[in-house]
Amino acid sequence: SSAVEEQLDPFSLVADELLILADRLRSMVVAEVPKLASAAEYFFKLGVEGKRFRPTVLLLMATALDLPITRQTSEAAVNTLATELRSRQQCIAEITERIHVASLLHDDMLDDADTRRGIGSLDFVVGDKSAVLAGDFLLSRACVALASLENTEVVSLLAKVVEHLVTGETMQMSTTSDQRCSMEYYMEKTYYKTASLVSNSCKAIALLAGQTAEVSNLAFEYGKNLGLAFQLLDDVLDFTGTSTSLGKGSLSDIRHGIVTAPILFAIEEYPELRAIVNQGFEKSSNVDRALEYLSMGSGIQRTRELATKHARLASAAIDALPENEDEAVQRSRRALVELTHIVITRTK
Ligand code: FPP
Ligand code: MG
Ligand code: MG
Repeated sequence: SSAVEEQLDPFSLVADELLILADRLRSMVVAEVPKLASAAEYFFKLGVEGKRFRPTVLLLMATALDLPITRQTSEAAVNTLATELRSRQQCIAEITERIHVASLLHDDMLDDADTRRGIGSLDFVVGDKSAVLAGDFLLSRACVALASLENTEVVSLLAKVVEHLVTGETMQMSTTSDQRCSMEYYMEKTYYKTASLVSNSCKAIALLAGQTAEVSNLAFEYGKNLGLAFQLLDDVLDFTGTSTSLGKGSLSDIRHGIVTAPILFAIEEYPELRAIVNQGFEKSSNVDRALEYLSMGSGIQRTRELATKHARLASAAIDALPENEDEAVQRSRRALVELTHIVITRTK
């Protein structure tokens, strides 16, 4: 039905395809180094696959951009073409998830995180050396899959994403006092660290479908703003969530001296907080004092509002897509809009 009120679960809309994807992600057994392969599969195992937020976005985007194909050729030829395109787009989802998990394996090492997704982080379980190599292995698998698509523009986009991930992580790690307290710097870092992967892979989905630059840019804008909203909420949850609800440590950013949006807004309200930020958070009393400022002011609220602004921009990008009467297309577009709500109301 076309009822707008229809309850829509974006994840169940692509559930079948997510299963195929999960199988592909799990099956990377390499005879030569079974230990390496099994380490790389660690976060693809049943029950710890995470929210599968990125593949869901990408598969929905693929359908949302589905253009009516000109019926000059036979029905059979059209179907073959459509199937081929879909499997190339599934490949983008697979590559994106591999790059994402590779970055998480390395991230948990850099962050000294003991847990992720409710289980031990890989480096905690198998040691740093194996975990580094498992991340590299996932990344190299992503590269091989990417090359197999034989689309230079798409290769460039995702190669740039990997550079952005490293850039974002490095920006976060080594900052001057001014940079640490700058909202602009924080947003730029957040784009590199989180939004670049979602935005550029959304764009890749559009490019593979042969979409115009205009449509590809709307796909990019959707991914960028959804990614920014996602990370802003992540940074809120680091303060408001519990370790159990998150499946990873809470208050971990501030304890590692990473200053995120809630604290940046709190500094605007209470300039004296800046001195504490500059002292650093090795002293746990400084963490406590920063948390006090945060609870007095509206840093959390303002971060949520900023996330909401980006969620709206993402939603607007979907609304700006060329009109399409097809029901599957419309349903996927509604699901993408629904995802923008899910991202800003989530608790984990
Ligand atoms: C999670 O952030 C980490 C990232 C989004 C990117 C990490 C990137 C690298 C380690 C660079 C290397 C990249 C590759 C592809 C090997 P977080 O620590 O804020 O989130 P968390 O709470 O989930 O750990
Ligand atoms: Mg981390
Ligand atoms: Mg990190």
